[in-house]
Amino acid sequence: MVSELRCYTEPAFFEKAQHYQAVLSSRGVTLQIDVIDKLNARFLRLHPDMALCVDADGLWLCALGMKMQPDWQAEIPRLKRASLKSEMLARACNLAEKPQLIDATAGLGHDSLLMAHLGAEVTLVERHPILFSLLEDSYQRALQDPFLSKVAARIHLVFSDSADYLKAQAEAGQAVDVVYLDPMFPQRDQNQQAVKKQAQVKKQMQLLHLLLPEHGEMDLGDALLPLAQKIAKRVVVKRPRLAVYLAGQTPDHQWTGDACRFDAYFQQDATKVNG
Ligand SMILES: C[S@@+](CC[C@H](N)C(=O)[O-])C[C@H]1O[C@@H](n2cnc3c(N)ncnc32)[C@H](O)[C@@H]1O
Repeated sequence: MVSELRCYTEPAFFEKAQHYQAVLSSRGVTLQIDVIDKLNARFLRLHPDMALCVDADGLWLCALGMKMQPDWQAEIPRLKRASLKSEMLARACNLAEKPQLIDATAGLGHDSLLMAHLGAEVTLVERHPILFSLLEDSYQRALQDPFLSKVAARIHLVFSDSADYLKAQAEAGQAVDVVYLDPMFPQRDQNQQAVKKQAQVKKQMQLLHLLLPEHGEMDLGDALLPLAQKIAKRVVVKRPRLAVYLAGQTPDHQWTGDACRFDAYFQQDATKVNG
């Protein structure tokens, strides 16, 4: 995982950059701040290596000439169209019941944003220090947004490895309605259609693919399923449509769409399926 990174900023945002430097340092990442005259598209093209940058819109990851952040504002039109009936995710997680939910693989927080919008009380757990800091920054901006602030009020962020977090919840006797898992899945193992879609993957998703290892050390999240089952009435796993089951465990129920599916695992006494 990246432990040192450059951070570009303009003089007007130097203090802001120092704030992120302190935050990331507490999470094990050293930022070297470079103050430059103009943090514009030309500068980013000339400096294609992965770095962070800070400007009026907060913290960004930049690489390959692009700026990327988990853009929750851009999700607003989707949230406005979404309903409990139209969203497979809503049916899989039984959001009509307004569950207490742990999203143990938060990433850019997009799935959680949708689930919180549709009524869930969501705890997002993310272990990657840079991704978590970008997520936290999006969350802070959401709290200031007239539409997103109501959704963000149902969101809680935790910087942790979910294996540790889920174990601690079990030890404390804390149960939840749903644990949601969307671990990384190697692109090479996905079916052709999914790979084609990945090729047109949105700029924001490229952020995940830049930060998270695609080969060798990728953690496929199998260990999270039994830990989640200890504390949740329902565990929902998002998978590419034709992917193998998480931890090789056959689900109790499935919802399948064009590109992905949701596998659900129920506690013995909670097998009622809605939708
Ligand atoms: C595919 S992304 C999730 C995308 C997310 N559903 C969204 O809507 O943006 C997987 C994320 O889970 C995180 N992750 C994987 N295993 C984890 C673990 N054990 N603890 C915490 N985070 C984990 C990765 O760092 C990555 O950010």
